[in-house]
Amino acid sequence: MQLLTLISLALFALSSDARPVRARQPSTSHLVTVPVRRVQRDTGLHVELRHEQQINRAQRLAARAAGLPAPSLDELRANIERRASFIDQPETRKRFNIPPPGFGSTSLGTESFIQDDDTAAPTIAQFSSEVDPDGADTTFVVTLQLGTPRRNFDVILDSGSGDFWVDSDQCSNNGAGCGNHTFLGPNESSSLVRLNKGFSIEYGSGSAAGEVVNDTIVLGGMLIDNFTFGVAHNISDSFANDPLADGLMGLSKPSLSTQGVPPAPIVMRDVGFFHQAIVSYRLPRSLDHVNNGEVTFGGLDPAKFDPSTLVTINSTDSGFWIIPLEGASVNGNAVTLNSTQALMDTGTTLLVLPTADAIAVHAQIPGAQQQQSGQFNIPCNTTASVSVRFGGNDFEISPEDLLFASGGRTTGDCTSGIGSFNQPGNQWLVGDTFLKSVYFSTNFDENTVSLAKAV
Ligand SMILES: *[C@@H]1O[C@H](CO)[C@@H](O)[C@H](O)[C@H]1NC(C)=O
Ligand SMILES: *[C@@H]1O[C@H](CO)[C@@H](O)[C@H](O)[C@H]1NC(C)=O
Ligand SMILES: *[C@@H]1O[C@H](CO)[C@@H](O)[C@H](O)[C@H]1NC(C)=O
Ligand SMILES: *[C@@H]1O[C@H](CO)[C@@H](O)[C@H](O)[C@H]1NC(C)=O
Ligand SMILES: *[C@@H]1O[C@H](CO)[C@@H](O)[C@H](O)[C@H]1NC(C)=O
Ligand SMILES: *[C@@H]1O[C@H](CO)[C@@H](O)[C@H](O)[C@H]1NC(C)=O
Ligand SMILES: *[C@@H]1O[C@H](CO)[C@@H](O)[C@H](O)[C@H]1NC(C)=O
Ligand SMILES: *[C@@H]1O[C@H](CO)[C@@H](O)[C@H](O)[C@H]1NC(C)=O
Repeated sequence: MQLLTLISLALFALSSDARPVRARQPSTSHLVTVPVRRVQRDTGLHVELRHEQQINRAQRLAARAAGLPAPSLDELRANIERRASFIDQPETRKRFNIPPPGFGSTSLGTESFIQDDDTAAPTIAQFSSEVDPDGADTTFVVTLQLGTPRRNFDVILDSGSGDFWVDSDQCSNNGAGCGNHTFLGPNESSSLVRLNKGFSIEYGSGSAAGEVVNDTIVLGGMLIDNFTFGVAHNISDSFANDPLADGLMGLSKPSLSTQGVPPAPIVMRDVGFFHQAIVSYRLPRSLDHVNNGEVTFGGLDPAKFDPSTLVTINSTDSGFWIIPLEGASVNGNAVTLNSTQALMDTGTTLLVLPTADAIAVHAQIPGAQQQQSGQFNIPCNTTASVSVRFGGNDFEISPEDLLFASGGRTTGDCTSGIGSFNQPGNQWLVGDTFLKSVYFSTNFDENTVSLAKAV
């Protein structure tokens, strides 16, 4: 108990210290915790279409992870059109309380859906008064400082990609503009050094391209000179239109980096801020109405999980955080699964399963129904206990997270937070539907993932 208290104190001391420090060697600190905020993304889109956007993103990410060609924009657009056509069915319209025509598939302007789908990653935590009105919990950001003088940048945390970049002051987005963001370049930072090297990255949704630079970064009080990262001259509309994010911090394993540089936690460990390159996430949930999201570098924050439930699992050789999937159950009944692997991604909103598994899981959830679209509805008042087994432990998904963007509704049917995709292979895409219920930690040095029940 005393040890825990000490660790927690050290942790708070560090994170609240306004004066950043360069690493001392050997390291005197072990954990650095930074608050995570959720981003409000009010697209005004029907919940079914936002759900389909998430499925599209998952489909592209899963294809990339499997080394297969990503579905084309035409395919993604067709998916959206198809989903919209089902909303237009009178009873679906009634069930989802959709306003009368004009919102039909012919006038959808699907281009903007696809572009919005470009929004790259995850949504983490609050620490602010921002409230996502429908509780969709789709993107998680942290605030850090870059350059000289130091200025704040809000960046998305994405465990499913390998590059760190922020918007460049030359960002033109082919003349369309890069939004109301904070930009970085030699004009804004006297310490920025251009390395004459380009980078370009595609996400499940969206893209960013630009050049690689060295500059000063301060994150959670840790100051690193000559940190190598990207400034993006060209970003997809979703990033340009993002209400908050000025960039993205990729926290996959180094092999996914298109810039050919190690991710931030490895650099931080190398300069001596902590002993092991570990990143741990406590993702917040809008329905909790508390600001409890955080990301911890260098270890696990003992205040945020139940230690009796902690498991550590070897990850595969993939650049993604992929671990063996050992099973699933609903209300204590085992579900027969075809899949054997799980890709853990804070940047994915849903828990997305290959079709056969999605059908098998929903078949055991009382009242769940497959929609015409192939996706599922679950009664909004569900109390079903869906658990996923990793490392010998069953981790329960909080019933409220089984619902996508329910906004806390308890009557009628809600769209399931467990999505289905036609994906060759045997892998689940485990996003925030699951990750919000657990403490999730990735260890770059041991190539392991740790999971515990979040508290
Ligand atoms: C940087 O500053 C120079 C000199 O004031 C100016 O000509 C140039 O347009 C600026 N570049 C950007 C990207 O703002
Ligand atoms: C741009 O963002 C700043 C702070 O993030 C905000 O105060 C300002 O109103 C925004 N401007 C526009 C035009 O949206
Ligand atoms: C950029 O930073 C890296 C360390 O991250 C260093 O090795 C390299 O020499 C730096 N390059 C320049 C041009 O400062
Ligand atoms: C960055 O790295 C270069 C090359 O190693 C070095 O000359 C320079 O002093 C470093 N800059 C800082 C601020 O440490
Ligand atoms: C910017 O990205 C778009 C696609 O997102 C691409 O069509 C365009 O060629 C890119 N422009 C530059 C200058 O890289
Ligand atoms: C995990 O990997 C380590 C070496 O990387 C190995 O010693 C250990 O047996 C592995 N554990 C399991 C459960 O496979
Ligand atoms: C959910 O609501 C339905 C009626 O809409 C009711 O029949 C059912 O018992 C409720 N389930 C739970 C778990 O409260
Ligand atoms: C089960 O997974 C295998 C790959 O391991 C795949 O070939 C097969 O099509 C899957 N079956 C179903 C029903 O999805």
